Amino acid sequence: MAGRIPQSFIDELVNRIDIVEVIDARVPLKKAGREFQACCPFHNEKTPSFTVSPTKQFYHCFGCGAHGTAIGFLMEFDHLEFPEAVEELAKMAGVEVPYEQGQRATPQQREQKTNLYDLMANCDKYYRQQLRQHAKASVAVDYLKGRGLSGEVAARYGLGYAPPGNNLLHALGNQFSQQLVTTGMLIRKDNGETYDRFRERIMFPIRDSRGRVIAFGGRVINPDDDAQGGANAAEGRKPGAAGPKYLNSPETPLFHKGRELYGLYEARQALRQISRLLVVEGYMDVIALAQQDINYAVAALGTACTAEHVQKLFRLTDDVVFCFDGDRAGREAAWRALENALPVVGGTNQVRFMFLPEGEDPDTQVQKIGKEAFEALIQQAQSLSTYFFSRLREGISRHDLEGHRTLIEKARPYLQALNDEAYRSLLVRELASYTHQNEATVQDQLGLVAKTRQARPVSTGLKKEPPSLVRTALRYLLFHPEVAQQVDNPRSLAQIEQPGIGLLVDLLETLQSAPTLNTAALLERWRNTEEGKHLEKLATWQPSLNDPESLQQEFLGAIARLEEQHRSSRTDALLAKANQGQLSAEEKAELKTLLQRRQAVDPNGN
Ligand code: GTP
Ligand code: MN
Repeated sequence: MAGRIPQSFIDELVNRIDIVEVIDARVPLKKAGREFQACCPFHNEKTPSFTVSPTKQFYHCFGCGAHGTAIGFLMEFDHLEFPEAVEELAKMAGVEVPYEQGQRATPQQREQKTNLYDLMANCDKYYRQQLRQHAKASVAVDYLKGRGLSGEVAARYGLGYAPPGNNLLHALGNQFSQQLVTTGMLIRKDNGETYDRFRERIMFPIRDSRGRVIAFGGRVINPDDDAQGGANAAEGRKPGAAGPKYLNSPETPLFHKGRELYGLYEARQALRQISRLLVVEGYMDVIALAQQDINYAVAALGTACTAEHVQKLFRLTDDVVFCFDGDRAGREAAWRALENALPVVGGTNQVRFMFLPEGEDPDTQVQKIGKEAFEALIQQAQSLSTYFFSRLREGISRHDLEGHRTLIEKARPYLQALNDEAYRSLLVRELASYTHQNEATVQDQLGLVAKTRQARPVSTGLKKEPPSLVRTALRYLLFHPEVAQQVDNPRSLAQIEQPGIGLLVDLLETLQSAPTLNTAALLERWRNTEEGKHLEKLATWQPSLNDPESLQQEFLGAIARLEEQHRSSRTDALLAKANQGQLSAEEKAELKTLLQRRQAVDPNGN
């Protein structure tokens, strides 16, 4: 476990860096008034609705709702974990990230991880060099040429060659033996000796979203089978003399299969805008498609595409197409992909399914028919619902009642897995039409309980108009944090019974004890909390009137009315107590002041 990064450091870092610079380095921004704009990197669009506010140090897309701080941006865009995003920003700012002690190992562990990346980079370099220099490399080069790859594409994907025998230790240095074992590049035998995991193979570096090599795939070179490129997977997995057709790095500190997608980094390098992503099965499929100028294919690495994978893809595009071989294995894999995608589809995010003719894989198919025809096939991919129902209806007669019931029964768990209500109703509607029943009946038979949305923890009436006093105050605080200094004794507000009042008090007190926090730094204090999500949404608020003076008045007015509410309920409570003759001397004095004030504010006693 990494040691905690002190909050004070995060405050300072977020105050110090400029989100405009951070984002502009990745998504070129244009100035638009006081803000900056671009086409949103998190969904596909043609007119910019992605805005970055230098004052709030906050980004927000009006199109897809994505929003956050610089740290949040790096986490989303570069797919970093929180501490990695902080490290990245610290690097930009030229400062060292402190880790709270108690975990003495932490800085070393971090350094070790950095070293592992360097080591993988060196392995990668070594394999690429061998593809150019090794005496036996011509077999590999010929093999790649035989599969139709140009040098340019091979270079883009960093293809390399692992020569026969054990070479890595010698090439990289004996002192790295343990680290090479940790990264899975060497395998240690029981007697302590090590040997190269990858020998006499074409090497495919697997890169993370920042382009760092984190693992490898290695393919045997068997020149005889290049003609039939798309030999079926079952055949391919049979270990022959040279071992399995493909070998992958094991799970390591750098590499988690369920998270990474082969080709994603390269796709993002090749394309400015990713309007669609195609998920295929193999390394060579990705590369063969790139060879035909289809640069948006990715592959899950020897596992089914997980929900996490799909979610990752949805951050880049809302059109994800799964491409499967037309054989039985392909159909099975497709159904698994559907199951995994259900929890994350909805809204504009769609997955579609495309099946190739029996015996073809994307590699052979695109070589056979070319880019245009292949893209036409993609265009015709089935929607999730079409594929879902066609598969579910297999063997069920459309005409008998029993069949209807079976169909609904079969659909139930899948519909339950959906998180998007609108999409679920759509499927229910289709199910109703397939079974010639009305929706209510189907809904009834399904017995689906509408999922209660993750209950909003602080319901400050986010969607209700007019905004509550608390909401008015919160959103202005996030818009202009300095104003907190003008509120006396925020703690007194805490006793009011109003949703969200606790959060408002916390925010005010935080800002009074750390007056320099900007909006982003403030939001960072609430990272990973339900309230934080709520605050981020409020931070997207854009005041419709551009009049700082009256905006501030609106805030102070809201606070004043909240204070008034507090006074009035306090007065009532004290009066009730007075009726029972239980007031202390102090309370009597307090009540007196309160009543005088009430008199002054509202002489008619209303
Ligand atoms: P080529 O024969 O080079 O065209 O590969 P392919 O991509 O057509 O291979 P195939 O359809 O047989 O396999 C698809 C993917 O499954 C590969 O890219 C690998 O990720 C994985 N795979 C295939 N064979 C093996 C194997 O023997 N072991 C492991 N671990 N994975 C394999
Ligand atoms: Mn193939």
